[in-house]
Order: sequence, then C-alpha cells, then structure tokens
Amino acid sequence: MNSGREKFVIQGLAGQRSLNGEIKTNGSKNDAVQAIAAAFLFRDRLTLTNLPEIDDVDKMLTLVVRLGARIKRSPHQAVITVPEQIPTSRTNLDMELAQKIRASILLLGPLLGRYGTVTFPHPGGCVIGERPIDLFLSGFQTLGATITETDQTYTIAAPRGLTGAEIFFRNISVTATETFILAAVLARGQTVLKNCALEPEIENLGRFLVAAGAKIDGLGTSIVKIDGTGPLAGEAHQYRILPDRIEAGSFLILGALAGQKITVTDCEPAHLESLLQHLALAGATVAVKQNEKTVTVSGPRRGEAFHPLNLKTHEYPGFPTDLQAPFAVLLTQAAGLSAIFETIFSGRLLYLETLNRMGAQTKILNPHEAAIDGPTPLKGWPAESPDLRAGLAYLLAGVIAAGETVIHNICYIDRGYERIDQRLRALGVNIERR
Ligand code: EPU
Repeated sequence: MNSGREKFVIQGLAGQRSLNGEIKTNGSKNDAVQAIAAAFLFRDRLTLTNLPEIDDVDKMLTLVVRLGARIKRSPHQAVITVPEQIPTSRTNLDMELAQKIRASILLLGPLLGRYGTVTFPHPGGCVIGERPIDLFLSGFQTLGATITETDQTYTIAAPRGLTGAEIFFRNISVTATETFILAAVLARGQTVLKNCALEPEIENLGRFLVAAGAKIDGLGTSIVKIDGTGPLAGEAHQYRILPDRIEAGSFLILGALAGQKITVTDCEPAHLESLLQHLALAGATVAVKQNEKTVTVSGPRRGEAFHPLNLKTHEYPGFPTDLQAPFAVLLTQAAGLSAIFETIFSGRLLYLETLNRMGAQTKILNPHEAAIDGPTPLKGWPAESPDLRAGLAYLLAGVIAAGETVIHNICYIDRGYERIDQRLRALGVNIERR
C-alpha cells in the first residue's frame, strides 16, 4: 500500500502532442471491490481474475481477512475462502479501514445475509461531497433487519435472516444496487429492486452470480428481481473483473490532450460510448475496434484547439461523474466557453481552483455547476490530490503544462490506478514517483 508520503513529479510537455504508443486497461476498481464482497455468498471459494493491484483492492481484501477469510493471491488474481461461521461478536468491520474506503459498505449485505449481524462505522472514501447511507439503512429495514446506532457505529441485525421485499431506491445508487443484489441472494423469498443503477459492473456481478446458481431477472434494467437461494457454489467458476472503463477513459482523455496517437487496449468500447461521443464532439479523432477491444485517439490538428461543450454527468450510460474532472482539463484547452453540470455529487468541482492556479480560467457557479473559458496554456504547480479523480485531473494538467508539477497525496491516485507512473512513462510522459 502507498506510504502516504510519496509524490509525483511531472515535467510538462508545454502543449506539445508527443505521446505515442499503446496502454493496456486493467481490471475495474469498482467491479473488483464488489466481487470481493461477493465472496461471502459462496460456501466454498471464489476465484477473482483480472484483479487490479491497487490500494482499494488491498484495503478491501484486508477487511475480509480481518473477518476471518483466507486469501491466496497471485498476480492479478485472488482466491477467497470465507469462514462457515463467524461468532456475532466478530462480524465487526475493521473501524479504521472501513472509514478509509466507501466500498466497505458492500460487505453489509453478504455479512448480514450469511451471519445475521454486522457492525460498521460511517464509511469513508474520497472527499467528493456528502455521501449518505440512508438507502442502505432503510433498505435493510425493509428486508426485516433492525438498526442500532451509536456515535461511532451502526449495528444491523437480522438474527433469523433477511426476508425478501420490494425496495424502491429514491436515488439511483451504484453500491446500493449491488449491496441489495448481494443481500437478496441470501434472503428468504423474492426481493424486487426498483430504480436500480445500470452500470456494467452491476450486470457483470449479476451474471456471475447467475452462472453460480443465483436466480436473478432483469439484469441491465432498472428493475431487478432476485429469488433467494442461500449460499452458492463457487468452485467451478471464476469471476473475471471487467476492464476499468474509468481508467480507459482517463487514458483516452490523456491521448486526446497530449497524444500524437494513443491506443488504449483491453478495454470495452461499448462501456465508453458517452465519453467517446464527447471526445469526438470536442474535436478529437477516435477510432474504435470493437472486436479487438481497442480505442485509438488523437487530438485536433496541430495548432487547433478543442471545441467547447456542455458536459452533464449522469448515471450510466450517461457521462460518468468519475471522468468529469479529467474531462474538465481537456475543456481548459477548448476555444470558448464550456459548462459543467455535475449532477451526482455536490463536492466534485473544487479541484477547479487548483486548475485556475495552473492558469485555467474556470468559475464555480454553485456546488453543481461551473464554467470554463479557454483555451489557456497551463503552467506547472504544486497540487494536492483531494480525491482519486481530481488527482488524476491534476496529473493530466501537469502533463500538458509548461514546467514542473508536483502532486502530493498521491495515495488517492494509487487507490484506483495501478502503477500509473510506470505505465505512463511508457507513452513518453516524464513522471517520477519520489
Ligand atoms: N446516495 C444517497 N443515499 C445513499 C447512497 C447514495 O442519497 O444511501 C446518493 C449519493 O449522495 C449520490 C448518488 O446517490 O448523490 C449516487 O451515489 P452512488 O451511491 O451511486 O455512489 P457510490 O455507489 O457510493 C459508486 C462508485 C463511485 C462513483 C459513483 C457514481 C464504487 C465503489 N464507487 O459510488 O466511484 O463515483 O458510484 O458513479 O462503485 C470513483 O471511482 O472515483 C468513485 C468515487
């Protein structure tokens, strides 16, 4: 895991589009963390492949080890075996770790369904605005659990097991949809989830569970029905983590900004439609080879700026909030006024203040909206990552800026991008980890 003191030092290209080559997409962070939680649905063992080697995966695996699971790791793979029984006094999530990673919340459903109780703190994670857990608490109550709250912790208990019921999600939530699919497999009777998120990671989870014997209908739609089956057999199956669409998207934005020609390989172009359309609208050249699972990108012709546009984040298949900050860096290089409307989180625009110090002209209009006027050359600057995707945006800004950019707090970037410095150096980025 990242020591917390490391930094990235980047010598910028001062606007030159000189990066070249291929970069492979790794497994998806958000698919990996839910797949690790899914291990508690299996009576034997769960094998995960294409597992990214990133800090959030390490933390999630450590959390399940502290709950008594055994893990055999090999490169980009893990085999997880969870205990048959855990005494109720031991089904506590490690407080310190759970406070560091929002995805810890994904363990609630499987733990509750399997062992009847779970105690956990308010989950932490990236600082991107208010991240309530009301959908989880009310959902578990609907499935028959009781909740006890102290200053520091929540305990959810369903000693006689969860009972299937209908849950309508007031907000579309990725991890709530995943959590209740996982919980419902272990619940008695049928659970109907309405207003579900449609992210491809959810469908991947559902399809894997079905292959292992779960009864789930409506995957890929907003209404998912699950008939509880109890613990599943994993021995004969391997959970292959999807390519990380956010990582692939981050590399494509880098390619448009600073590439002569960059090819992102091992990605799933079908999961990138919204981004690819926005890149093309902004004036990048994008070539998709669906069968080969590659996307090649290059920026506008030499001397030409990008076109400005209005960017509105949206649940999948709309433009992902996780690519909003990286794309904003591209909009600083567009000729004219662009607008950003961040509809998912209320604290995900603050990074723009640092981009302004680097020379961008942006204005935060309210917690959800901002304007960007361009094109503006950027200059190197010391920046401090406030979260994973804003950190990545600073990295992109550092690559196109003139001079040296130092990024502190890169533990946030290491949460979701594996050895990004080494991989970007292979494209020609002058980046060092110190
Ligand atoms: N929400 C509620 N109540 C809840 C839960 C969520 O009101 O109980 C609201 C949130 O405040 C937000 C909206 O629902 O306004 C959507 O949030 P969601 O629950 O979908 O976010 P999440 O599941 O916590 C996942 C990803 C995030 C990604 C979001 C949105 C994982 C582990 N995390 O978070 O990934 O930004 O979906 O797509 O899957 C990242 O990778 O950088 C990252 C933050």
